[in-house]
Order: sequence, then C-alpha cells, then structure tokens
Amino acid sequence: MANRVTINADMPAGTINRNIYGHFSEHLGRCIYEGIWVGEDSPIPNTNGIRNDVVAALRNINIPVLRWPGGCFADEYHWKDGVGPRESRKRMINTHWGGVVENNHFGTHEFLMLCEMLECEPYISGNVGSGTVQEMSEWVEYMTFDGVSPMAQWREENGREKPWKLKYFGVGNENWGCGGSMRPEYYADEYRRYQTYVRNYGGNKIHKIACGPNVADYNWMEVVMREAHRMMDSISLHYYTVPGEWHAKGAATGFSEDEWFVTLHKALYMDELIKRHSTIMDKYDPDKRVGLVVDEWGTWFDVEPGTNPGFLYQQNTIRDALVAGLTLHIFHEHCDRVRMANIAQAINVLQSVILTEGEKMVLTPTYHVFDMYKVHQDATQLKAEFESEPYVRGGQSIPQVSVSASKDAEGRIHVSLCNLDNANGAEVAIDLRGLAASGLTVTGTELTASAKDAHNTFEQPDAVSPKPFREFAVNGTSVSAKLSPMSVTVLELSAV
Ligand code: AHR
Repeated sequence: MANRVTINADMPAGTINRNIYGHFSEHLGRCIYEGIWVGEDSPIPNTNGIRNDVVAALRNINIPVLRWPGGCFADEYHWKDGVGPRESRKRMINTHWGGVVENNHFGTHEFLMLCEMLECEPYISGNVGSGTVQEMSEWVEYMTFDGVSPMAQWREENGREKPWKLKYFGVGNENWGCGGSMRPEYYADEYRRYQTYVRNYGGNKIHKIACGPNVADYNWMEVVMREAHRMMDSISLHYYTVPGEWHAKGAATGFSEDEWFVTLHKALYMDELIKRHSTIMDKYDPDKRVGLVVDEWGTWFDVEPGTNPGFLYQQNTIRDALVAGLTLHIFHEHCDRVRMANIAQAINVLQSVILTEGEKMVLTPTYHVFDMYKVHQDATQLKAEFESEPYVRGGQSIPQVSVSASKDAEGRIHVSLCNLDNANGAEVAIDLRGLAASGLTVTGTELTASAKDAHNTFEQPDAVSPKPFREFAVNGTSVSAKLSPMSVTVLELSAV
C-alpha cells in the first residue's frame, strides 16, 4: 500500500483558525437578493426579510465570518444610500454585475442583522476606489461609535441604538483592478491614508485588512508589505480555480476527464501561491503578526446556459467538493499565516454552498464538505508525514490523495482525506503515533458520487450527500481505509 500517513498526535502544528471556513456574499446576481434577502412581505418564510432556510443551513455549518458587500461592488458602494427607510433609498446601477438596478434594500442594518442571526463575525469591505476617506471613516463611526456623534445619532434615528461590534474591515478590494486600477505604490499610500481614519471606538477594535495581490503578483505583495505592513493586521490574496482561459473557462457540468484533472491540478496551485507570498511577508514580518486572508477563492466556470452572464451562476459537482476539500487542507497546512479565507460566494454565485430558485433551496456538494470539515474549526493541526501515489494524466502528475489531521478540544482526532482520482479507489494506511492509548474507535463519513459531474438539483437534492463510511479496518493505533474514487472522507479517531 503506497498511500501512507503518519499522524503525530503529540506534535501540534498550530491552530486552524475557524475563520478559514469563512464565506463571501456580494451584491452580485442572486446572492444577496433572493439568496439571502427576500423582503418582509415575501411568501418565502423569512425573519425581518431574511430567508429562514438559508440562515438555518449556514448556521448548521458554523459559518464563522461573512464578507460583504463585495468584491468589485464594494468599491462602487456608497453605504449612506443603503440606510434609512427602505422605500426612499437611492437606486443605482450595478455596473459590474449585469447592469441591473440595485435598490439598496439590503444595507448595513440588514447585513449586520444577518450576522447576528448567523452568530458570525461581519467582515465589511470599504470603498477606496470611488469613495472618500470621510465616507469610510463615517461608516465605521456609524456602526461602532458608542457616544454622541452625528453618525451615532443617525444610526439611532434609523432604529439601532446600540453600536454593533465590528472586527474585520477591508480597506478596498482588488484595487489593482476593479477597485481603481492602482499601482501598488499608489495603493500602499492610499491604504496608509484611509486606514488612519478607520478608528477604534470604545471597546471595538478593528482588524484592518489591506488589499493584497491577484494570484502571483509578487511585486504587489512586496511593495504593499514594504510600505504599509506596520499599519495592517492582515493582507488579502485572491485566487480562483479556472480550468480553461478567462474567455472560455469550461463548463461546471458535462466536462471531460482532462478538465477534471486540470481543475484539481490548478486548485493545488494555491499551495505554491501561499508559500511564495508568505516568504515575502516573512521578510517584513518575521514574527507573522500580519495574517494572510484568502478572501476570495473557489472554482470559476462558464455560467449556466441561458443565465445572465453577469450573474456568475454555476452548478456545483463532486469536482467542486474535491476542490474545496483539498484547498481547505492547504489552508490548514499554512495556518501559521492563513488566518481567514472566504469561499466565493455563499449563494447562487460561483462555488456556492447553497443554490436557490424561488422558495426552493438545495445544498451543494461543497456545502457538505464545509459541514463534514467543521470539526477542524479551531482545532489543533497535527503534524503528519504523508506519501501518496501519483495521479498522472497527460504527462502531468499530482498526488492522488490529500490528507489533513487535527485534534479537537475533547481530544478526538479528525482525519480528512480527498481521493482526487475520478476512476480509481485509493487504499490509505494511517498510523497514529504519540497517543497514550493502545487502541482506537473509528467512525467515518464519506461524500462521493458515481459520475464526475454528479450534482444536486431541486428535483434531486440529495444526489450527492454524505453517507456513513465503513470501508476501514482498525489494528491498535493503525487504520487502513479504502477510499472510493472521487471522494471526500472524514474519519473520527478516539483513543480507547
Ligand atoms: O467574486 C466575483 C468577483 O471576483 C469579485 O467581485 C471580485 O473581487 C473578483 O474579481
């Protein structure tokens, strides 16, 4: 058996920040409107305008943090248009995403109410590209000031007396592109200026996140870190897995075996990106005070035929589940630097965890990975040595199996395994060392499918859903498992 993993139960390798399991919701397509916000008068069951089924589903996966309002939308968003009586809020054109009318019905109060319902941290992206320093500063004052001030008074008039707690604030989004087409030197100076006025009021302490690079723009990371690292708490990174080219990305379903392989191969590139960006960060921040926040990641395919190209609506298959599983493993591995990640996007956009159609809702294979993996949130990452069989196609090779292990507060060990090969099963020998026990009890859950583009529909919502996994044998503190082709498996190991 050539897939072998040794897990060192006595060698902690850092904490897996639960915020790595974060999400992103932009005013884009049907993410906010229909996906989250249906309005108080909707026949879709809702609480104060927010749909109940979506809130329950997101709470079930312990969503730790939610990013809003964009994305590209953030640098065109003027928050004052989105507070006060809804019927008199300004309407605007969402120029980035389909040119549709944005009625601003979902604004600051609605977003922060949603986060309270989800019991998650809000992460707000401010407008650097087309907004002013004053506008950004007043937004923070509006949300968090606990004394007498013009913004606090306006907040009260709009129905919220007490300030909210707001921890995460992004100073711009993709300012190298849709957020203002800036050079890194210019953005670094703008960052320094804008962040000066992002104040901490009362007991509220803001964690400031600078706009980081697109994919492998190492020069952006170098310049922004050099010029501004002392004034930031984190810096972002964006990387999407696109099997083809931007003009022809590839379909979300009905893809070839080559596209299957290339998608997983490209997803693994996240590891190199984090390593190389971290090396630059180490130069300016050897103590790793500054976090790396991968606040946009996931698959990006061609939109579903017949849907608005600006809405970025795509199906989600077992292939997406594997991209999610292996990417989360990469984040675990780099948990010393990666403190947050936000998959794009929560509902009806790109690699969603939830799809809706009117009152119907379906959970995607990616949702199930977030559900199965929630045991890793805030757990201790365990050092593991791993040898995998190669998975080879078209002269390229990637590991067949991806593994990550953690220990939770109760001492249970969770091992997650992804078999990336769509055609062949994988046998894995797991040895647990450093455990003060002579035996183990093991339970398992598996997500797999019989076709490589299997997905859940409104008619068949459970076509791809987790099942108990029993294909393993235990011998003392060793476990041998037989993974199905194209599968994500989580084992729970408890000492006896
Ligand atoms: O997630 C979709 C878009 O991708 C975001 O608005 C933007 O930040 C990125 O380019």
